[in-house]
Amino acid sequence: MQVIKTNNYEDMSRVVAEMFIAQITAKPTSVLGLATGSTPESAYKLLVQAYENKQVDFSQVTTVNLDEYHGLTPDNPQSYRYFMNSNLFNLINIDKNKTHVPSGTAANPDAECERYEKLIEEVGGIDLQLLGMGHNGHLAFNEPGEELSPVTHHVYLSETTIKANSRFFETYEDVPKSAISMGMKSIMSGRKLILAVSGNAKANILKKALYGPITTQIPASLLQLHNDVTVVTDCL
Ligand code: GLP
Repeated sequence: MQVIKTNNYEDMSRVVAEMFIAQITAKPTSVLGLATGSTPESAYKLLVQAYENKQVDFSQVTTVNLDEYHGLTPDNPQSYRYFMNSNLFNLINIDKNKTHVPSGTAANPDAECERYEKLIEEVGGIDLQLLGMGHNGHLAFNEPGEELSPVTHHVYLSETTIKANSRFFETYEDVPKSAISMGMKSIMSGRKLILAVSGNAKANILKKALYGPITTQIPASLLQLHNDVTVVTDCL
């Protein structure tokens, strides 16, 4: 595991964006695993800038997102599909048909999970996976608990996550209580992983995840088992 400590959020974002640009330059047909939340926002802005400056070409890239809220349509501004379209996909030369986010409104969520897991395989697996981390150490929506799910699954969100994510919604009640999320095996199958973590509030849980015991109570601690993880953080 490589740990890159940066001075601030902007530097962290620059390192993350540069890693993506290097990946796409080395392999223009890369499959990128993407994340939502506040953490990757600036990195996405930098990727848009790099595209505008003709430093990177997304025309052959495929993307696979980690998760989506259950019950939100793609045109709902709180949905992760909407986030990805407005922060990245609408602003670069990517083929939208090659951008994948789990459907939050599938009539049968279990069938959707199965479809999504197969899709990850069909696109050839993920070359570079970006991960944020929740305040409780979750990855995507793999919440701390006795057990973790290996593959894409329908999951009920923890109180901590609902509270943390309520900042994006008008009221706490508006936050969806469940989601579709890639599982730990889906994530750990990524050939190269980047964990981006920013802000003092996450310093303690990040230390535990990186240097403490590997435990399902801190899903990010499983990253210690992966042989190509780069942690980029301003909070250590
Ligand atoms: C959300 C997402 C995660 C994300 C995490 C951190 O619940 N499901 O994929 O990494 O929380 O979010 P933020 O970057 O806003 O702190």
